Amino acid sequence: MISIENQLELCYLVAAALFIFGIKGLGSPRTAVRGNRLGSIGMLIAVIATVIMIQRDGSGGDSPAQWTWVLIGLGAGALVGAVMAKRVEMTGMPEMVALLNGFGGAASALVGLSELLRLGPQVLIWDQAGAGSDYHLWRTVLVVAVGASSLIGWLTLTGSVVAMLKLAGKWKWNLAFGGVNFIKGGLLLLAVVSSGMLLQDPTQMLWIGLLTGSSALLGVIFVAPIGGADMPVVISFLNSLSGLAATATGFVVGNNALIISGALVGAAGLILTAIMCKAMNRSFLDVMFKAYGASSAGASGDGEKRSARGYDADEAALAFDGARLVIVVPGYGMAVSQAQHAVRELAEELESKGTDVRYAIHPVAGRMPGHMNVLLAEANVSYDKLFELDDINSAFSECDVALIVGANDTINPAAHTDPGGPLGGMPILDVEKARTTIIVKRSLSPGYAGVDNDLFYRTSTMMLFGDGKKKIVELLGAVKEL
Ligand code: TAP
Repeated sequence: MISIENQLELCYLVAAALFIFGIKGLGSPRTAVRGNRLGSIGMLIAVIATVIMIQRDGSGGDSPAQWTWVLIGLGAGALVGAVMAKRVEMTGMPEMVALLNGFGGAASALVGLSELLRLGPQVLIWDQAGAGSDYHLWRTVLVVAVGASSLIGWLTLTGSVVAMLKLAGKWKWNLAFGGVNFIKGGLLLLAVVSSGMLLQDPTQMLWIGLLTGSSALLGVIFVAPIGGADMPVVISFLNSLSGLAATATGFVVGNNALIISGALVGAAGLILTAIMCKAMNRSFLDVMFKAYGASSAGASGDGEKRSARGYDADEAALAFDGARLVIVVPGYGMAVSQAQHAVRELAEELESKGTDVRYAIHPVAGRMPGHMNVLLAEANVSYDKLFELDDINSAFSECDVALIVGANDTINPAAHTDPGGPLGGMPILDVEKARTTIIVKRSLSPGYAGVDNDLFYRTSTMMLFGDGKKKIVELLGAVKEL
């Protein structure tokens, strides 16, 4: 017969397996909903097992008041989560993820701190009693893990709040002054020294305060100089840090589920950060320590100096007449103008006329991973019609019309022609190979990387200037008239 303790550990194992299958499911839009459910069920199992475990070892169950707090926490968390899930718009998702990361980091830091406050005085008594080597190992792991969860947890909280405010356009202080990296180094050193001092005496409030304060300030100073457009990469990195903070806290409270789930979040966040940096052809250090994205938009483009002919919707619609293959390339402008529903309606109209319509998805189109997939799924575009860069690029040479809706960097040939430039080496969608390229955007201004786009001036390009949604609706009307 398996003991109840082992049964509970088995529950943790099942939860960890569900987390892993859940993350695997999130890798494709087709299986993402199932993946999300698996992860949620895993979390429910882990929470129930933990509550039973606490009750059995008596650390929370002796006093009914403590259980009241646990239930209030569970209820309030479930309520706020449900309301946010219903109310937050798709475009507000990166901000919400930033906030959730921050809360995750803060929760880990608070649990670590409470354990230190609970066990610190006891540790001093045990020290004097001259306990054995096992005790010293446990004591070191405890204090180092509390130091790590505080440093990473508070940094994640304040960094995430700054990232969220930047995304919402409410953060006004750039803090990109000379020597800022020295201040970051100094704060990191102070946090590490404070943790070291706590190793000597875990009850010293001065060092606990300095560790908390320096870590929190480090989060602000770390994120504030980074450009607003780089925030998705930063948020992914902070997500990874929140996982590491949870793992450290898992060691503090001796909870295997927390250690495993924290490690999974940490690894997944790091992998995503690396994927985004690679797809943008930027190094991680450049994103984190150069204020590149802040000044990029329009900075180096000279688009306004040249002129490109603008077309109206009726003229552009003629390009669709008799078209066999149309490839839609969505970008950040589609998200801004919320044109996805109009784009789907236009595609359906073309399909009713016998045109094959596909969607080309660049890995960093928009401003968050999977941005275009999410918007198109919201507009009920079938997953089968979405193609990744490597799978669609060869089709552009057979395509009659490439319809670009608010995309710019992801189609900019400068990635090939200017290897030393900001876009140099980034894989792009080869829309220039299409017979006709229709580009919907408001002006000739460059995209996020600030690089002028030669495509705008080519004879095979029709520029449709205006708000994405408005122009696609006009185009739809004109196509219906054909
Ligand atoms: P961008 O290169 O940023 O270009 C978007 C274009 O949309 C702009 O040129 C803008 O031109 C147009 N636009 C803005 N509002 C519009 C509206 N209301 N209606 C129509 N057009 C509008 O977009 P992209 O091709 O999607 O490339 C994404 C860029 O962001 C890449 O450089 C990528 O590296 C970077 N980035 C991506 C991510 C992720 S994870 N996706 C994260 C960080 C950075 P007008 O102003 O002329 O309209």
